[in-house]
Amino acid sequence: MGITKRKFGETKNGECVSAYLLKNANGMEAEMLDFGAILRVLKVPDKNGAFLDVVHGFDSVKGYEDHNDTYYGATIGRCGNRIAGAQFVLDGKTYPLDANDGKNNLHGGFAGYEHRMFTVREMQDNDTPSVCFSLHSPDMDQGFPGNLDFCITYQLTADNTLQLSYAAMSDQKTIINPTNHSYFNLNGHQSGTILDQEVMICADAFTWADAESIPTGELVSVEGTPMDFRSFHTIGERIDQEDTALKYGNGYDHNYCVNDTGKMKKIAALRSARSGILMEVESDLPGMQLYTGNFIKGNQTGKGGVCYPRRSGVCFETQYYPDAIHHPEFKQPVYAANETMRSTTRYHFSILS
Ligand code: BGC
Repeated sequence: MGITKRKFGETKNGECVSAYLLKNANGMEAEMLDFGAILRVLKVPDKNGAFLDVVHGFDSVKGYEDHNDTYYGATIGRCGNRIAGAQFVLDGKTYPLDANDGKNNLHGGFAGYEHRMFTVREMQDNDTPSVCFSLHSPDMDQGFPGNLDFCITYQLTADNTLQLSYAAMSDQKTIINPTNHSYFNLNGHQSGTILDQEVMICADAFTWADAESIPTGELVSVEGTPMDFRSFHTIGERIDQEDTALKYGNGYDHNYCVNDTGKMKKIAALRSARSGILMEVESDLPGMQLYTGNFIKGNQTGKGGVCYPRRSGVCFETQYYPDAIHHPEFKQPVYAANETMRSTTRYHFSILS
């Protein structure tokens, strides 16, 4: 139980990267890196009491440095998902950003938080060990205004919940919309596709997006469509149906409007009959991107020499709606100078009854 630190490797620039392992009394483990505040390993018990590592990752820093378009386990900042036209206007001033996804900005730009070195504070509480990773993002970092102090705390509780708590504050008005980009596979990261695993999402609607995954502003009901996950469906059941949203997303790659209350609530779940593992996701944000790893190319050697095929992991990215800054009707990820942004995401694991 508690926290163990070890040397993981070195960055291209010669910085020493450490791995922090949290372990609870049930034997559940979560390992994070101070490089990118990446969640690298998540071992949870299956129905037979064996521990499965249920997230994608790499065994070297180089793996993460070389593959910068899949964001395995990454902490995304300053702004998750897309900003149309790679620019936005705040108080009359235009802020150009990196166009790293066609002509749009994705996950902050080329120099995202997932490749930064974080400063670490360990909190040695044996029942609920936690590690806090913090980062200073200077004014105009990635093109965003304001000197921003950002931190993410990973905490492992006695009831097999991994909690991610974000906090950030800037000295100028700015956009803050961090998320975590873990790919989950409840049969183990090495087990192949997630098409036979079942998803449930507490959302009546999703943000309609164009072929570049930019929201049009329309919220569309899931009723009668393959986007409806209000009850459990396997990911594979409808993913290849003739459907415009699925065609544009190359599969599921959509923001769900998760019945926003502004408070912590259950928003989604993933379960596997094979391993008997149930994962429930909680968040206090209005949106969640369901992304089924459609762009994994199958050319990446991950942990233990495993090659991850297309659709071998599923992301539940808690977030403000994509491109919210261009849609005043969406809840805004804009924070005033010296206003604290806080948000929490929880992944709770149990065995199906
Ligand atoms: C996006 C995908 C993108 C992926 C990057 C997701 O959040 O919605 O379109 O390909 O991140 O791996």
